[in-house]
Amino acid sequence: MRVGMLTGGGDCPGLNAVIRAAVRKGVQDYGHEFIGYRDGWRGLVQGSTVPLGIPAVRGILPRGGTVLGSSRTNPFKDPDGVHRIRENLAKDDVDALIAIGGEDTLGVAARLHEEHGIRCVGVPKTIDNDLSATDYTFGFDTAVNIATEAIDRLHTTAESHMRVLVVEVMGRHAGWIALHSGLAGGANVILIPEQRFDLDEVCGWVTSRFRASYAPIVVVAEGAMPQDGDLVLKGAAAHDSFGHVRLSGVGEWLAKEIEQRTGKEARTIVLGHVQRGGTPSAFDRWLATRFGLHAIAAVRDGDFGRMVALRGTDIVRVPLRDATARLKTVPPGLYEEARTFFG
Ligand code: F6P
Repeated sequence: MRVGMLTGGGDCPGLNAVIRAAVRKGVQDYGHEFIGYRDGWRGLVQGSTVPLGIPAVRGILPRGGTVLGSSRTNPFKDPDGVHRIRENLAKDDVDALIAIGGEDTLGVAARLHEEHGIRCVGVPKTIDNDLSATDYTFGFDTAVNIATEAIDRLHTTAESHMRVLVVEVMGRHAGWIALHSGLAGGANVILIPEQRFDLDEVCGWVTSRFRASYAPIVVVAEGAMPQDGDLVLKGAAAHDSFGHVRLSGVGEWLAKEIEQRTGKEARTIVLGHVQRGGTPSAFDRWLATRFGLHAIAAVRDGDFGRMVALRGTDIVRVPLRDATARLKTVPPGLYEEARTFFG
């Protein structure tokens, strides 16, 4: 078989580990050939390819980013998009496609399979960990470790100056990174998109932390919102081709409000793309490698329209459609646990 591979959406550590594992097993065990498409769906629409054999994947296991490049291209936005995809797959003699991505990339793969009969297998990735069909996505563990290390460092400088430090982490619809890094890093307040926050309550926690002679660390997910009124975020005018607003700004807004209301100096640290860059953690390399091995096994079995997923310690196959049907958000009970440490 000739197998096409692409990585779409925001990059995350572990993408190269998936590519390497699928190519190694595909070539060695099944005799498959591979071709890479550059920059997600854009490469498939435009016919932009990268040679992908064992020599091309040597040494990429610990490397962050993606050797294939990525973009947030939605081929269904282009009236000619699907037609060009079909043409390019035929021209490149591709029998099956492995799409590595989050809800948008996998949503496209699901539609291409269901509506156009294109033989796709999906691999879930996102640092946000918000895909419901899998217990974890790779990239998340690395992001949590990076954010936790930053919070650890911020405690000492916050205390030297007795100021509030607001740490804005990624998490558009789900507060998994904020919750895990906030708990691991001993934050005094954690704010997530799933639960609107009360500014008076946040200021109460900040004040009580100062009363105990410590400086507060407030971890806020970029998608978190206050109870009264939606925030006008600075990047809100920008949207990607899947219609997502480009976030960032809540941390700065929050620090200003806290400073005004409590009279304590407050500063903001936006971790941003630092959370997505660099080498993957050991857990993410392990998960991504197993996803790659199981994705190419699904292709070999002719089990298309499926996504590989982690359930406990097993890798299973689920319908691509289910994978993107529902976002996995932080359940109220889990957030409640963290509240023990607020203030
Ligand atoms: O979906 C993953 C993610 O990292 C989100 O947490 C964040 O909102 C978004 O991507 C940022 O996207 P980009 O870097 O493409 O602007």
